[in-house]
Amino acid sequence: NCSGYDLWMAYNRLSGERLAMAEDLCREIHVYGEGPVMANVAAELERGFSGLTGEKVKTVRLINSQRNDSTRSRPSIIAGTKHSLGEMIQGTGPESDGSVNGKPEAFTLIMPGNSESGHGGESDALWVIGEDEPALIYGVFELLRRITTGHLPEPGSTYSGSPAFNWRMLNHWDNFDGTIERGYAGKSLWKWHELPDRVDNRYTDYARACASVGLNGSVLNNVNDAQTVLQSGNLRKVKAIAQVLAGWGIRTFLSVNFASPMIIGGLDTADPLDPEVRQWWMEKCDEIYALIPDFGGFLVKADSEGQPGPFSYNRNHAQGANMLARALAPHGGVLIWRAFVYGHGEADRAKTAYSTFSALDGEFDDNCVIQIKNGAIDFQPREPVHPLFSHLHSTNSFMEFQITQEYLGQGNHIVYLAPMWKEILDFDFASGLSNPESPSSVVSRLTNERNGRITGIAAVSNIGDEETWCGSHFHPLNWYAYGRLAWNPGLSSEAIAEEWAVQTFGSDEKVIDVCMRMLLPSWETCINYMTPLGLHHIMKEGHHYGPDPGFDGGEREDWRSTYYHRADRKGLGFDRSPTGTKATEQYPEPCSSLFGSMDTCPEKYLLWFHHVPWDRKLSSGRTLMDEIEERYKTGVSGVEGMISHWDEVSERIDPQRARAVREKLEIQLADAREWMEVCVPYFRSFK
Ligand code: GCU
Repeated sequence: NCSGYDLWMAYNRLSGERLAMAEDLCREIHVYGEGPVMANVAAELERGFSGLTGEKVKTVRLINSQRNDSTRSRPSIIAGTKHSLGEMIQGTGPESDGSVNGKPEAFTLIMPGNSESGHGGESDALWVIGEDEPALIYGVFELLRRITTGHLPEPGSTYSGSPAFNWRMLNHWDNFDGTIERGYAGKSLWKWHELPDRVDNRYTDYARACASVGLNGSVLNNVNDAQTVLQSGNLRKVKAIAQVLAGWGIRTFLSVNFASPMIIGGLDTADPLDPEVRQWWMEKCDEIYALIPDFGGFLVKADSEGQPGPFSYNRNHAQGANMLARALAPHGGVLIWRAFVYGHGEADRAKTAYSTFSALDGEFDDNCVIQIKNGAIDFQPREPVHPLFSHLHSTNSFMEFQITQEYLGQGNHIVYLAPMWKEILDFDFASGLSNPESPSSVVSRLTNERNGRITGIAAVSNIGDEETWCGSHFHPLNWYAYGRLAWNPGLSSEAIAEEWAVQTFGSDEKVIDVCMRMLLPSWETCINYMTPLGLHHIMKEGHHYGPDPGFDGGEREDWRSTYYHRADRKGLGFDRSPTGTKATEQYPEPCSSLFGSMDTCPEKYLLWFHHVPWDRKLSSGRTLMDEIEERYKTGVSGVEGMISHWDEVSERIDPQRARAVREKLEIQLADAREWMEVCVPYFRSFK
């Protein structure tokens, strides 16, 4: 895996006890069922066990009726769906204990030695049973991961898994010319000019990687590049990709432009209440589903950053979204509408999404979803949770994270994002603290399936066509971690990083230990050297890389000098409290009061919500100004620490990866120093 291409699926040969276990397990693998998904499952088992044992492993493909012919054999693994295994599992473990309980995508692993499993002799086998075909894929990857990381369930035990969210999506911001908006890992994977005739092998590896962490939806194109995607010629290209993804349980979605009826349909309006417009979308959906029967649906960015939307016709966002949702509904499609709306003359950009959507709660159709960024500005290194999550009671909503590190050092800085995502998901509106178990936590609200709601989570991909896929040998961790959290948000950041590191670098304890010491504090380190204490959007304009707190220019109010940090002689920070823009009032109590007062606002959000006097003493006993300086220094020394950790183990890693990671860390250190050297004197100059 020196090149990084194999990601966390390198399946390097195991040793010791793990090797013995893997060898024992792959003695005779029976896969029951036919069709492309089952073929992929069998191929993955072969690939996985061949790699892990260093021996060529073949599986036996069977259909249920052949079972009796194989009584002479004693399979070591039996894999299939509830359907393909049929009577073989009736009255046995998964049926009787309810583990594969009819929940779509749920799988069960029954370990050898379980007396309940199978009839006659097959209790020696490990069973992988999927409720449906995607479930079997997830079960197989779970098994391979657990063997590799040494976490097989106990002999005789049963382990079941099912996803927390119905939809676990990647959003690609890939453009049709091959570039990627906010992409830092090369060009787009999708080779539109070659499709549909040539279907690149890499699509399969992409789909395997997604499926291995449980992702089940992919939006192929950028929300800002959706003008022509719905032309019939392009849909045939989309179909070719969709067929590959479907073999791994992944449904294909497209970003669409709200004005498509005008742009490609030749109509003179895109007014959502116009009958011809409605008709155009209905026919377009019929066309899409005739080509791609399992098509997922649309993602729309409307009335935002120049994209057209219902506002042009004096219609609201529910009217706009429902019109599209109704064209998708007969086919079972989902309409995902983004809440990222701002720039309509408001004094505080952070407030717009809330004001636009909270008033429309209950007006969206059942197959509509509002997709909300984790914070109210824009994927900053740290944002308080978006207040909209506490207000949409009768509307489906998805979380939107950003895996690509637009504001976190892009393809250069090693920043592990699971801790950020968990801070958001675990946030409890009832206490303002971290409490995932609370019914008012973000994760509880998002995964609550009451009234047959659609639940889901999305993230902007960091994938490109570079050899490492994501920009460095460490960047794939965030793709991996996102998928794992989308499947099970209860996993800890530590557990995810560790399993990724073992699958990526092998099980050398020293290496794993160093990875953990580098990764776990890396997000706080980045916040410290970029935007400590709630500072935000002080990056350079346009590309958003590097510091520019004094940016002076731009027409837009929200890009004027000091807009986001509001430094002046008195102090620093954006007053969103009741004495300022009152954005804190968009939060329910007690969060509204908690954030609204400088005395109770958590320091990590202080300058996000308050204009704080330079001499105010913070919890460290230092004044604000001194604390700012201290934070930047801590950030820089954090990166120095990462480098010395890496140096401790670089000899235990292949030279190619050791060197490549070292080079990235050197850039990260130089950048961290630049942030400190630009920001500290800049802020001091106001005092
Ligand atoms: C950010 C990003 C844009 C992107 C936008 C969005 O503003 O800089 O490139 O288009 O988010 O989420 O739509």
